Amino acid sequence: MDLYCVMGNPVEHSRSPWIHGRFAELTAQTLHYGRRRIELDGFANGVAAFRADPAGTARGCNITVPFKFDAGAVAQHLSPRAALAEAVNTLSFRADGVHGDNTDGVGLVNDILRNAKVVITGRDVLLIGAGGAAAGVLGPLLATGARRLVVANRTLAKAVSLVQRHAAVALAHGACLEAQALDTVSGRFDIVVNATASSLSGGSVPVAASVLKPGALAIDMMYGPAAAGFMDWARAHGAVPRDGLGMLVEQAAEAFALWRGVRPPAAQVLNELRAQLGD
Ligand code: ATR
Repeated sequence: MDLYCVMGNPVEHSRSPWIHGRFAELTAQTLHYGRRRIELDGFANGVAAFRADPAGTARGCNITVPFKFDAGAVAQHLSPRAALAEAVNTLSFRADGVHGDNTDGVGLVNDILRNAKVVITGRDVLLIGAGGAAAGVLGPLLATGARRLVVANRTLAKAVSLVQRHAAVALAHGACLEAQALDTVSGRFDIVVNATASSLSGGSVPVAASVLKPGALAIDMMYGPAAAGFMDWARAHGAVPRDGLGMLVEQAAEAFALWRGVRPPAAQVLNELRAQLGD
């Protein structure tokens, strides 16, 4: 049996086993996808234990908080997008070693393009946050053709450093990329992405509503109660709110395609997941 899993801490509430199980059913792939709670200081040991599982052959795993950085250190080969993000959410165990990739950014882009049906090319995008979540999506947003991309963060220096790291990608795609402080964001945007953890600590939305163009897409990378504050704010100010459930399913679909060479029906599985969660 080919084995896959999601590794994290906590990981108990992860939807990934259900999502990948459904992908496997719908594409007639035989595999088992489980979940593994990894000790905070024991990521490499966790990977080794998974690879020694006698139940089958470990082929790959997804990585969630707080191990996306540790996963990069375990990989012998990094995809360009994982190297740029400095974070790995997908490991593949292959004959020539462990490959690390990051499917979060393409997951967000595909959710925006395919599920929300919003164009990115030529649009102005505001990315709020400069932590690991923001780093995972900046490169793919630039590569999809955003015209202007502003990274706004509470700690300006982190936004500046993220922008500097992506300067060559922005140049290659003709995008105007800049860092700004949260309280002085200038301009109005077609797409606003919340990649901060502010809602988790019960904080309010950290930017002024004037950043939203009428009908803008306002997408939180979280889902469930953690995304509610941002989505309410967006709705109240004439934007179209969206949570991160679509991104979750799309990043999983990209990982599944990497592992199995088959693209699963992500939109169908997203609809099923929303129905299951009572959305
Ligand atoms: P993640 O991997 O989820 O991105 P992280 O790397 O800790 O987690 O980054 C958290 C992000 O949320 C950062 O951009 C952080 O801002 P700082 O860089 O200034 O710390 C942002 N954040 C967290 N709490 C916030 C709050 N109450 N208001 C605004 N931004 C907040």
